[in-house]
Amino acid sequence: MNIYQKCVESAEYIKQFADANEAIGIILGSGLGNLAEEVEEAVIISYKDIPHFPMTNVLGHAGRLVIGKLNGVKVVCMQGRFHFYEGYDMKIVSMPVRVMKLLGIRSLIVTNAAGGVNRSFSEGTLMLIDDFINFMGENPLTGDNVEEFGPRFPDMTLALDKEYKKLAFEAAKELKIDLRKGVYMSFRGPNYETPAEIRFAEAIGADAVGMSTVPEILVARHANIPTIGISCITNMGAGITGEALSHLEVEAVARRVNDEFKALLKLLITKM
Ligand code: HPA
Repeated sequence: MNIYQKCVESAEYIKQFADANEAIGIILGSGLGNLAEEVEEAVIISYKDIPHFPMTNVLGHAGRLVIGKLNGVKVVCMQGRFHFYEGYDMKIVSMPVRVMKLLGIRSLIVTNAAGGVNRSFSEGTLMLIDDFINFMGENPLTGDNVEEFGPRFPDMTLALDKEYKKLAFEAAKELKIDLRKGVYMSFRGPNYETPAEIRFAEAIGADAVGMSTVPEILVARHANIPTIGISCITNMGAGITGEALSHLEVEAVARRVNDEFKALLKLLITKM
């Protein structure tokens, strides 16, 4: 069975329980998953029950789809995502985006925790993903093109929606949040980068580094889903402060910024 057929079967299963047509898809990153708990009239579906979905078992990731309303706006939240470093093929990592496309989402918000490379950032900075660098050495669009979703050679100039970027800054201004923007560079992980890799990232124009999100943006652009991405800078990149990095620290900062990040997303979706 090819990836398209698998996505169709996953979507058909979900459609039995919930209608996500015209919803906004939201992928919740580390420490941000609790936004899903605010979804009203929620239909909750565990990934383990969805045909062809792999399981997530990363610390801090729940592994369920939450479909309902947030601030009156129809949403489908992915509470927990799949990472390349877990050993999944890129096509599996990004598959939920394609399933959401088949569910009929009208736009996508991707969020993550990331390391700050831009030295004017600090722990807790929220960064709009202005552009990205795929440094994972893999691509979910490799192999036979899935024509049902999109073209062989998708454009990336407009991968992150210009209008949505404006709306995000508008929302941030209203909330008095100092939203920054920058280039997100994705590494394979699972180790945090070395200090030398962070200097390399800085030299080639990255503002933040992380281990997710790029496969999802690539697949979303391929399928022509207007997308916006926001990173929570949970720590400065390795070597910048000289302190060792830990997942607990990353989660703690993500939790601390949680209220602000949630407020931004909740206002942003009313504008999209
Ligand atoms: N590097 C990569 N991924 C991350 C980081 C980091 O410093 N912080 C949170 N996710």
